[in-house]
Amino acid sequence: MNKKDLNRREFLNAASAASLAAVASRTIPAYGNVSKKAGKLAILGGQPVRTKGWYGWPIWDKGAEESILSVLRSGNWFRGRGTKVSEFEKQYAELMGARRCLATASGTTALLVALHVLGVDAGDEVLVAPYTFIATYNVVFLTKALPVFVDTDQETFTMNPDKIEERINERTKAILPVHILGLPADMDRINAIAKKHNLVVIEDACQAWLAEYRNKKCGTLGDLGCFSFQNSKNLPAGEGGAVIGNDEEIMDKCYSFHNCGRPYGTVKGTSGYPVRGSNRRMQQFQAVILMSQMKRIQKDADTRLENALYLTSRIKDIPGIIPYKLAEGATRSAYHLYPFRYKKEHFSDIPRNKFLAALRAEGVPCSSGYGPQNKDGVIEEALNSRGYKRLYSSRRLKRYREENHCPDNDQLCKEAVWFSQSMLLGTKRDMDDIADAIAKIYENRAKLA
Ligand SMILES: Cc1ncc(COP(=O)(O)O)c(C=O)c1O
Repeated sequence: MNKKDLNRREFLNAASAASLAAVASRTIPAYGNVSKKAGKLAILGGQPVRTKGWYGWPIWDKGAEESILSVLRSGNWFRGRGTKVSEFEKQYAELMGARRCLATASGTTALLVALHVLGVDAGDEVLVAPYTFIATYNVVFLTKALPVFVDTDQETFTMNPDKIEERINERTKAILPVHILGLPADMDRINAIAKKHNLVVIEDACQAWLAEYRNKKCGTLGDLGCFSFQNSKNLPAGEGGAVIGNDEEIMDKCYSFHNCGRPYGTVKGTSGYPVRGSNRRMQQFQAVILMSQMKRIQKDADTRLENALYLTSRIKDIPGIIPYKLAEGATRSAYHLYPFRYKKEHFSDIPRNKFLAALRAEGVPCSSGYGPQNKDGVIEEALNSRGYKRLYSSRRLKRYREENHCPDNDQLCKEAVWFSQSMLLGTKRDMDDIADAIAKIYENRAKLA
C-alpha cells in the first residue's frame, strides 16, 4: 500500500471525524445525464460537490453512560465477579442464531482461541484469504502454523473457492475464510472442500456482524466463527471479540482455554488447570457497551443495506466503476465497508491515487484499502525465524516462497476503493453526493489526466 494512503482504521477514523463547513448548492442529476453544470473539479479549484460532514462513529446514548457507571460503582469489573459478560454472550448468541457465544478481549484473541481449540498446531498449514486485515494471518503465525494464501475472487473480494484445492497438502489442517468488509465468502463451496479433505473451518467474521449466507448469519457456517468489536466496527466497544459455535464440547473447550485452562463444563476438573490456557477474557465494561450498542445494530444494518443498494444503483453504470458482487449463496453484506473497483482505463488512465484525491476534494472520504499483504515483511520475518526453520523443511519453505503469488488479489489491491460504514448511515441524499462526485470526476477525467 502506498504509505500516503490511510490504513483501514485511520481511514475510518478520518471519515467519521470529517467535519466540513457549510453546504454548497449545486445541481448534478443522476448519472446517465450528468449536467455540464457539475462544473470544475474541486481538486482543480472548483466548488466541491459536498462541504457537509458525515456521520461520526461510534454513536452512544445516555443508557450506555448509566450502565458503565453502574459497573464502575459495583467494583465488579472482571467477568469472574459479575454477570454482564455472560448476559452479553447470551444476547449475542441469540442475535446470531448460534447455540453458544464466548466473549473475548478482542477479535485477534477470538481467532487464537478458535485455532487452538480446533487443534491447529505447530507445523500445520492453514489456508487463508490474503485480502484481509493482518490479524487474520498473525494469529496463524502465533500458532506456529503456516498461513498459505488462496487467491481472491476480484468480484466478491473473498477467497476464490476454485483456488483452494491446489493449495492443500498433507499438513493442511484448516481453512480460514474471511467475510471481508462484511461480504460473505462462498461458504457452501468452502465447507464442501473442507469436508472432502477433513479440514476444520474457522470463519473470520470480524467485519461481518449480521451478514448472511443463505439467510444464516455469517459466523455460524463453519466450525467456529470469530468477531471483533474494536472501535471502528459496526458493533463497537473500543476492543472486544467473540467466538460463536453450536458444538457444546468445543465451546466448553473455548471457555476453558480463554480462562487460563480452568475446568469448564465438559472440560473436567482433574486438577486446577487440566488443560493449557490463556487469559483472553472480556471485561464487564466492554459487555455493557456492547449490550447498549446491540440495541441499534439491526436498524443500522438495515439503513446501510438500503443506502448501499441505492448507491450501487447510482454508480454501477459509470464506466470503470464496478461495485462489489455478492458470492454465490451470499444473501446480505454487513457493509463494514462499501467497496468497488476503479478501472483507470475508463478514466483517461488517471491513477487510482489521483482519483481518490479528487474524490476527497469533492468532500467524499474514501480509501484504497488493503495492499498485497501476502508479500508483507511479516511473512519473511516469520519464515526466517528459528522456530519456522525448525518446524518446516527448507524444501517446504522454498516451495512456499515460490508459490506465494496471488495475482488476482494483487490486481484487486490496485483497483479497490472503499467507503466507510458510517457514511452509509446517512440519507439517500448523502449517497447522491457520493455518486455525483464520482460522475463529476468521470465527466472531467480528461482535465485531470
Ligand atoms: C478481518 C479481521 N480479522 C481480525 C481482526 C482482529 O480483530 P481485533 O482488532 O479486534 O483484534 C480484525 C480487526 O480489525 C479484522 O478486520
